[in-house]
Amino acid sequence: LPAHLTLRHGELHFEDVPLERLAREHGTPLFVYSKAAILQALAAYQRGLAGRKHLICYAMKANSSLAILQVLVRAGCGLDIVSGGELERALAAGCAPERIVFSGVGKQRGEMRRALEVGIGCFNVESRAELDVLDEVARSMGLRARVSIRVNPDVDAKTHPYISTGLKGNKFGIAHSEVLQTYRHAAACAGLEVVGIDCHIGSQITEVAPYLDAMDRVLDLVAAIEAAGVPLHHIDFGGGLGIDYNGDTPPAADALWPQLLAKLDARGYGERTVMIEPGRSLVGNAGVCLTEVLFTKPGEQKNFLIVDAAMNDLPRPAMYQAFHRIEPVRPRADAASTVWDVVGPVCESGDWLGRDRALAVQQGDLLAVLSAGAYCMAMASNYNTRGRAAEVLVDGAMATPIRQRESAADQMRLETLLP
Ligand code: LLP
Repeated sequence: LPAHLTLRHGELHFEDVPLERLAREHGTPLFVYSKAAILQALAAYQRGLAGRKHLICYAMKANSSLAILQVLVRAGCGLDIVSGGELERALAAGCAPERIVFSGVGKQRGEMRRALEVGIGCFNVESRAELDVLDEVARSMGLRARVSIRVNPDVDAKTHPYISTGLKGNKFGIAHSEVLQTYRHAAACAGLEVVGIDCHIGSQITEVAPYLDAMDRVLDLVAAIEAAGVPLHHIDFGGGLGIDYNGDTPPAADALWPQLLAKLDARGYGERTVMIEPGRSLVGNAGVCLTEVLFTKPGEQKNFLIVDAAMNDLPRPAMYQAFHRIEPVRPRADAASTVWDVVGPVCESGDWLGRDRALAVQQGDLLAVLSAGAYCMAMASNYNTRGRAAEVLVDGAMATPIRQRESAADQMRLETLLP
């Protein structure tokens, strides 16, 4: 089981809180997060980067609930944002603006203006056109925007085919071959101050090799850019480290980072500020989603467990055929298990949470969908006019509600009836 999730007295606990009690008090579907699990995941990065000038900017797209942001910000993190909405959340959670970096391929002028007005730390720019618009917006405000350019290291697809964002042929970053001229251009823009370089090669990466390759490529670029007379203050190496969903074995952050830092040292860049943007690896295994079995529906070809969580709450299986472990909250010790497809109430065949799972369960039982801390609540929708789930943060024996369940009225609030 993931850290801080234990089976005690025959029932699942997150830290010292029994999950069944939370489901009874707050209803289901319910997301439950462990503060200790988040801080433990963060600590691995902090150990890996200890003694270095660094800033860990949590990629808040993974889970942008305000209380989660507060936990990470209070523990010393900055934030990586990708929209004006995330900027407002970051500020609401108390993040110092200079500890915010702004990523994403499609920043709007209004978002740029707001970010400049509050004074964010850095824009991670992804195209020449974006650079020019940002320059114009900053000059119109009498300011200079701090920028780093997101480079696409084009890490070899043949050896690491699972990397989805660091290859030629996707929309992210500036092509390796155009990096130098883009830096020269940026350095000549009056509204821009070049401060760093940035890359992000993909997500749910479970091997060390692509990181090492990407670091070599980025450091080659750093040397070339500085030789062209553009000094770089920081190196932002993105996020992407995977988690264990189902026996996956990603490197630990405190094992990976010393290897990457050794590469910096070998080239004399040991004094540079290192920035990273981890998302999933900080929160993914610090969350579960509790759901109740509404009905059992055995059939000739398939047996279905119909639960009250659905693709609108947990979109990853439907979207990516992603695997999330599903465990009974109170396992039935002696009961025989049956093979079930665990499905939600949404009117789509794609609405499944798990396929062919051997489980001993009955109507009314509670299930915990594991590894639900990242890219679940943050990707939830209102499809079928289903209100988004409630959320609770556990800390030791304490459980704090951090988000109310969304009502139908909440969902209709911004709509207007015809006269
Ligand atoms: N920085 C940038 C520029 C990114 O695009 C991302 C994620 C991150 C950092 C954080 O990456 P992480 O450490 O979480 O891997 N919804 C998908 C994942 C999409 C990731 C997008 N970019 C999923 O559920 O698997």
